[in-house]
Amino acid sequence: MRPFTYLLLLLTTLAQAQKTPIYLIPQPVEIQEKTGSFVLNKTTAISYDRPDAEVTANQLAQRLRRATGFALPVRSVKTASANSVLLRINPTPNATLGREGYELSVSPTGVVLSANQPAGLFYGTQTLLQLFPPDVDNQTIVKRAWAVPAVRVVDYPRFGWRGFMLDVSRNFFTKQQVMRYIDNLAQLKINTFHWHLTDDEGWRIEIKSLPRLTEVGAFRVPRVGKWGEREPPKPGEAATDGGFYTQDDIREVVRYAQERHITIVPEIDVPGHSMAAIAAYPELSTTKDPNTRVNPGATFAEWFPNGTFKMNIENALNPSDEKVYAFLDKVFTEVAALFPGQYIHVGGDECYKGYWEKDPGCQALMKQENMQHVEQLQGYFMKRMEQILKSKGKKLIGWDEILEGGIAPEATVMSWRGIKGGIEAAKMGHDVVMSPTTFAYIDYMQGDPTLEPRIYASLLLKTCYEFEPVPEGVDPQRILGGQANLWTEKIQSVPHAEYMSFPRVWALSEVYWSPKAQRNFAGFVPRMETQMARADRAGINYARAAYDPVVTPTLTDNKLMVSLDGGIPGLQIYYTLNDGMPGRYDTLYNQPFEIPEGPLTLRVITYRNGQPIGRQITVTRDELLKRVKK
Ligand code: ACM
Repeated sequence: MRPFTYLLLLLTTLAQAQKTPIYLIPQPVEIQEKTGSFVLNKTTAISYDRPDAEVTANQLAQRLRRATGFALPVRSVKTASANSVLLRINPTPNATLGREGYELSVSPTGVVLSANQPAGLFYGTQTLLQLFPPDVDNQTIVKRAWAVPAVRVVDYPRFGWRGFMLDVSRNFFTKQQVMRYIDNLAQLKINTFHWHLTDDEGWRIEIKSLPRLTEVGAFRVPRVGKWGEREPPKPGEAATDGGFYTQDDIREVVRYAQERHITIVPEIDVPGHSMAAIAAYPELSTTKDPNTRVNPGATFAEWFPNGTFKMNIENALNPSDEKVYAFLDKVFTEVAALFPGQYIHVGGDECYKGYWEKDPGCQALMKQENMQHVEQLQGYFMKRMEQILKSKGKKLIGWDEILEGGIAPEATVMSWRGIKGGIEAAKMGHDVVMSPTTFAYIDYMQGDPTLEPRIYASLLLKTCYEFEPVPEGVDPQRILGGQANLWTEKIQSVPHAEYMSFPRVWALSEVYWSPKAQRNFAGFVPRMETQMARADRAGINYARAAYDPVVTPTLTDNKLMVSLDGGIPGLQIYYTLNDGMPGRYDTLYNQPFEIPEGPLTLRVITYRNGQPIGRQITVTRDELLKRVKK
């Protein structure tokens, strides 16, 4: 090599070594790395050129002040000046960017962020914040240099509906806890917060014209322990456990979300999942049982292997009673006034029709409407819901069961039992949001069942990441986007909710924002790890389960075989079958192996760069056999 070439290579290598890698979530459409960096200091100004950019400018300054301790003046200006972060609204819209896109340009002299709308500026500032060292998310001041690599980012979302659902019925989260969630979601460019406000276990929203909904429906008898195995309420036992949001609370959360460009979709789950409402107003059901209580997590349903079920306590509203529609009109009048978004979610899932079948009023309605099957009563009910919502200027969205018994003409379908309901609805010309159990149910276990709190199903981070919301043969225009759904039967705290959410919501935020071609799980891993460093500073309790080995047993010719996966790429997996604690001097996994007969225990652990990184899995041969046979 000639000396000059050698010198050039050395300099390039040095420059590259100094370059901070750019690790963003969700991955933008386009990133061009430039030379040098911008360094924020105490005199850097946060400027904006139009009044509608002021809120975002203030939010950015606030976020930056927390960890840097710099005063960072916020100013209205006409043009960019040195040492400033300028937020610009494009005077003529840039068609590529759309409503939520942005263009971010960082150079050694300053930062210019432009967008067509404030939402785009908000997302651009989230990207800018992620370009800072992870310390920027620290909750107290860190003394250090605040450099941002020079870069040009052009970015806009793949989908307009990038959602997260939180169930606050099974477990009540305070408004402060909900706002903390909203804040964390907005940083991932999630723009829809689906608030599951009512269910059998609690009605959580104040309806002023129907005070018993919260006086009675928001509280249940206190119980601890495993959901589904809890004791039902005893006669006369006081319901002291619960909570609800007043209308002022709701308005506060709505405003908080709006400032972060998140639309709240409230869900009032009807006609099933309504035991809390029926406890408050027993006349809403067919049996009108005055002893109906809010369920505290006791079992009241039987599930059969063919997927059908039976409710041993009536938890559905009576579709044949006009008073039920008058009740729902009152509920939706108040709900519609509180939430400015265009959608209201009316549930529609898992409605047991056994009580309807036996009810003379329902039978009469079926006869009158010439219905052949009891399912059609749900179709009738949902069409009435759509009329009520339309009269209040709102659109109906419901779980995919709303396809059964005749779908309401303009309904949007949220596909949860896989994607087949979504495909069917899209083919019928309905809009669809994809949130199938198979990719988006983050209440499922994210690691080995021996390590995680037990739930009946699993959903690994990698599987979330590989979700493709637009099925083949479906008009992509019909797929509004997708969601992550967090049901909280088994989740009683914010740390647990965060553990279940992250990193899987990081993965799903990318599924819903980033171009399909940009997605790559191996590329996601270092970005996830940087996000973990940010979350450490922000005090977010994410899971590290993705580093655990994934153990898959199979039975081949009566031999018990096991294959192991490192969870994320690039890990080494070591195992023992000799009751030794597994480590780097044990067997390195490279292909599926047999577990011979005998009272054996498999122990597995993952390593990276010579250090253990995942948790150890310990599982007996008998347990592995049980898993295969399931
Ligand atoms: C649902 O998970 N029941 C929508």
